[in-house]
Amino acid sequence: MTAVFTPFTLKDVTLRNRIAVPPMCQYSAVDGLTNQWHQIHYPGLARGGAGLVIVEATAVSPEGRITPGCTGLWNDEQAEGMEQIAASIKAAGSVAGIQIGHAGRKASANLPWEGDDHIPAADPRGWETISPSVVAFGGGLSKMPKAMSLDDIARVQADFVAAARRARNAGFEWLELHFAHGYLAQSFFSAHSNQRSDQYGGDASGRSRFLLETVAAVREAWPENLPLTARFGVIEYDGRDEETLVAAIDLTRKMRDSGLDLLNVSIGFSTTEAKIPWGPTFLAPVAERVRRETEMPVASAWCIDAAQDVERVVADGQMDIVMIGRAFLADPHYSYRLALELGLDKPSWSVLPPPYAYWLSSYRGPGTGSAQ
Ligand SMILES: Cc1cc2nc3c(=O)[nH]c(=O)nc-3n(C[C@H](O)[C@H](O)[C@H](O)COP(=O)(O)O)c2cc1C
Repeated sequence: MTAVFTPFTLKDVTLRNRIAVPPMCQYSAVDGLTNQWHQIHYPGLARGGAGLVIVEATAVSPEGRITPGCTGLWNDEQAEGMEQIAASIKAAGSVAGIQIGHAGRKASANLPWEGDDHIPAADPRGWETISPSVVAFGGGLSKMPKAMSLDDIARVQADFVAAARRARNAGFEWLELHFAHGYLAQSFFSAHSNQRSDQYGGDASGRSRFLLETVAAVREAWPENLPLTARFGVIEYDGRDEETLVAAIDLTRKMRDSGLDLLNVSIGFSTTEAKIPWGPTFLAPVAERVRRETEMPVASAWCIDAAQDVERVVADGQMDIVMIGRAFLADPHYSYRLALELGLDKPSWSVLPPPYAYWLSSYRGPGTGSAQ
């Protein structure tokens, strides 16, 4: 047995292995509704052997979508589509997770392959964005957001709770709050975007309030026996990393005490000035520090795709779950290849879907003349 192919239990949920597909927007929804693309995409990843498949950033309200193609969970029709997706992920043996979020000042953007920039103000496809303060992200996302009133804050938090309920009713067993990547919650935490002087701004404790309150409110609505997790950008790579990390770890401990079960350690993406040290496993030491200092389970992603790296980050205790994104898009059957490359012993292939795993454990690939 290898570390990454060892099952992982959190609350009442057991993942068959430590491989997770992180949320990846498909930008293919209309009015927040999923369609047949989503219905083939998600179970395909589950069939490929991941222990956990997390459905893409799904907006809690229409203005919380990153692009017009993003999925939503602000109405029951959207929840019906999601119910089919959760059921098909489960049918392939993965745990069905979903990420819910609000894109804040980065909302109302064109699809990545149509520019990834803000939709111009005059274009009816776009909408007004909201954020803690009137500060634009910059670059192609230069639209000025409206500063949120206290009523706006309460309304968005209620939207998170309602979306969490719909996710549960749709059959998801793993909820991830999107507190990362420069979207709304991250914008409250980051001094790059939060210049408020009320109780939701100011020092790190004020800037943490929105996230902490949202965790507590969602925990009330999300079943106690199921994992409540968050993806949080604990580092910006903006030259103030130690300060940000210390504040992020402090907030993570408080979120843990409010009922958060696992942190998906990620990057802030709050500033265009960041200098991110892209390279294999570059974020893993940060995940390890968060895990050690908060004593809570962590997952992490970003450039972890070589078999030995995937195994090592789990075996060395840098993370409990390893998130593999683009490698799964390149090869939705990535897990079987990983098992072969790591030399997983035959009985242990039972942690992958047997209708494929039974054959693939002895199949060495095209041109090898593998025996049956
Ligand atoms: C097409 C695409 C869509 C993504 N959408 C999301 C998303 O919805 N939510 C999120 O937190 N991260 C999103 N990400 C980031 C991924 O979850 C992941 O962190 C990133 O791809 C790095 O992991 P990798 O190096 O294994 O690909 C997206 C990435 C890609 C490539």
